[in-house]
Amino acid sequence: MPKRYEIVANYIADQINSGLLKTNERVLSVRQCANELSVSISTVIRGYELLQDRLLIESRPQSGFFVCQQFELPQTPETSKPEQRPVEVNLGKLALKIISSSNNNKLIQLAVALPNIHVPAVAQLNRITAQIAREQSRTNQIITQDNISEYDSPPGNKNLRRKIAQRLLSAGVKAHPDEIVLTTGCQEALVLSLNAVTKAGDTVAVESPNYYGMLQAIEALGLKALEIPTDVKTGISLSALELAIREWPVTACVLAPNYSNPLGSCIPDARKKQLAQMLEKANIALIEDDINAELTYDNHRPVAIKSYDKTGNVLLCSSLSKTLSPGLRVGWVVAGRWLERVQHLKLCNSGANASITTLAAARYLEMGTFDRHLRQMRQYYKRQRDYFLQLASRYFPDDIRTSNPQGGYILWIRLPQGVDGMKLYERALEENIAISPGTLFSVNHQYNHFIRINYGQETIQNLEKAAILLGRLMREMMT
Ligand SMILES: Cc1ncc(COP(=O)(O)O)c(C=O)c1O
Repeated sequence: MPKRYEIVANYIADQINSGLLKTNERVLSVRQCANELSVSISTVIRGYELLQDRLLIESRPQSGFFVCQQFELPQTPETSKPEQRPVEVNLGKLALKIISSSNNNKLIQLAVALPNIHVPAVAQLNRITAQIAREQSRTNQIITQDNISEYDSPPGNKNLRRKIAQRLLSAGVKAHPDEIVLTTGCQEALVLSLNAVTKAGDTVAVESPNYYGMLQAIEALGLKALEIPTDVKTGISLSALELAIREWPVTACVLAPNYSNPLGSCIPDARKKQLAQMLEKANIALIEDDINAELTYDNHRPVAIKSYDKTGNVLLCSSLSKTLSPGLRVGWVVAGRWLERVQHLKLCNSGANASITTLAAARYLEMGTFDRHLRQMRQYYKRQRDYFLQLASRYFPDDIRTSNPQGGYILWIRLPQGVDGMKLYERALEENIAISPGTLFSVNHQYNHFIRINYGQETIQNLEKAAILLGRLMREMMT
């Protein structure tokens, strides 16, 4: 639940962001606001302090509070133009280095795609987990159902699969719980799916730039990646994909149609249908990464491509890592016509999931508070996006370009001419700020003039500190 002063801040912020209150216009006085919202004067003062921290209002001596100048947002980067031929992937150890920095408390962490976990829903989940462990801690008690000391063998906890099937209805997907296989996070779901539909040496079409975990999975399975031009707003280019699958022997296509990583792009629904049909006709399996879809900012999650799947050609992968807790490691795949193969591979790969986390996730979802949590997180990430885009306009050099995602919490930034993403990454790390260099997101290392940052996890004070430093480093590197 947002605190009272946050409600005040959001009330005014919404008026500014919707254009109701314009630059230099006076904001309600503290007393008027307290009356209007039926809160105390001190609550309004705290709310207005927060708005000043977020660079939305400023105080003018003896005059009151006014809307700050809102900087014009940076332009978005152009559609990518990757080299379009299948290539073997060799990403090296950089991804591991970046991921292992996520536990370093000294860093302002903008590198790893972690959600904000300091929220009531995660505390609630942790209490449920502790309660399950307590219930089953008595040695003389025989537990016949959902025993956390037993294997949760594939396809995994039935109650959790039922809850996932229910949630999928809002994505337009009607899946029976028995069509769902639980996995250790979305990463395992993606790897099992790739493994199920390809053999070593095959070519996989991917969005460019792409989530490096996917590129690493392609590398580990001995596959080749064929990067396809992708637009920062509307996702993969259908015409480029069509040409590519005519020219090359593509076996599978991997896409994150809803708020992709790192672009944050979202494929329009009509194109999703076209895509499903095109790949079905060409007999190319589609692995759909749906992990960020529920983090939409407009409260209606976009449909999944799987919703247009008539023949089981789409394998839909997701998890609770971005919406709730990455440490839970609860993921799933709706495996279409590869269901049996995926179940078998799950057994070979990790045998089963951790029983306590699947049980805790099932009980958490059964409580019915997840949608409220999601509504709050969507608003929170949207505010964080608006704030970081203002910071970028204010502190970064003029010729940067940024994505403007409508969901999730990842920003893709094209650096000014002459600034190298890898050098910026190294210099920022020396100053205890972690970012992801763009080179990680392609097999051809072609996004070296980009970085990716996570605006969802850090406090607004840390975001401002990081933006000031990154802006200074960029300017130093330009000269
Ligand atoms: C697009 C995308 N897919 C999959 C994953 C892996 O998710 P999980 O932590 O559930 O394994 C991530 C994690 O960052 C991601 O960003």
